[in-house]
Amino acid sequence: MEQQSRRSFIAGAAAAGLVAGAFGSIRAAHAQEYATPFGPSSQDAVNRMIKLAALKDGDVVADLGSGNGQIIIAAVKSNPKVRGWGVDLQEWLVKTATEEAAKQGVSDRAQFSQRNAFDVDLREASVINMWLFANLTRLLQPKILAEARPGTRVIVNGQLIGTENILGLWQPDQIDREGSSPIMLWIVPARVQGFWTWDLPLGGTTQTYDVIMNQAFQQAEGFARVGNRRESLTEVKLRGEDLSFVFDMTLTGVGRTKHEFSGKVNGDTIKGTVKVSMAESKPMELPWIARRVAKSGWFRPTGIDLK
Ligand SMILES: C[S@@+](CC[C@H](N)C(=O)[O-])C[C@H]1O[C@@H](n2cnc3c(N)ncnc32)[C@H](O)[C@@H]1O
Repeated sequence: MEQQSRRSFIAGAAAAGLVAGAFGSIRAAHAQEYATPFGPSSQDAVNRMIKLAALKDGDVVADLGSGNGQIIIAAVKSNPKVRGWGVDLQEWLVKTATEEAAKQGVSDRAQFSQRNAFDVDLREASVINMWLFANLTRLLQPKILAEARPGTRVIVNGQLIGTENILGLWQPDQIDREGSSPIMLWIVPARVQGFWTWDLPLGGTTQTYDVIMNQAFQQAEGFARVGNRRESLTEVKLRGEDLSFVFDMTLTGVGRTKHEFSGKVNGDTIKGTVKVSMAESKPMELPWIARRVAKSGWFRPTGIDLK
């Protein structure tokens, strides 16, 4: 399968206008287990990759295996407040991309270097582009999840490699199938897995919330405890650093209370607001600050009090 995908990629790359001599200059097999030859993404794919990234001022776009530099050059030209950089194993492609950036007057915002995609620091990017063999793309998944900041958009051209498990079990947030090849988007999720706690002043007292979050990539579920009551979180949404969820809970001295939380995850803190709605009173909005803890009050003994 691997050999076959490699052969079809090479055939496709050749059909896409592969520059003669590219294969001759790829490194020896012992140096790179999975090297991908050069073939430029089609113009249609480049346009759709940039569109799906929804570039905004301040974005830093990276292309892992930047080839002739066309994606970075097109990205920085689409917005004067966007910067970009590309890395490629092949010296002649880095030179070609650098010369093209100069020709198009964007050298100050588009830089290229001869480096291995596995060696770059992905914390510097807010958008990461790739069109590599499927197995190589997949091997970059743990690096992306370990290094890229929450909210970073990952864009992959699916031409010849398809859309199936390209980043392993991490499924795309969106797939654009409108053109000649599928273009996939992933949004790096914040890490919410673990134990969280916070207080809210409700019913004339301080209510302490102990929440357990479980996470599989951008999917999350959670369980809340206040006093001796426990409820599951519903409508849990995690997109980049943005987390929101809802739950109803009967609070001591307050009664049945609906909670709608939304906030931004920043390391071991979540900051946002909670809309609290109680049976007879008007809903109110309170600030919400949660912190991650090593041990959770969730596991305190509950006892047998039925009141
Ligand atoms: C199919 S081309 C894509 C070029 C460009 N991203 C585009 O879509 O037009 C793949 C490029 O990745 C480069 N490449 C392969 N493995 C790499 C690695 N480990 N690190 C950096 N570049 C790599 C190849 O030299 C080639 O230029």
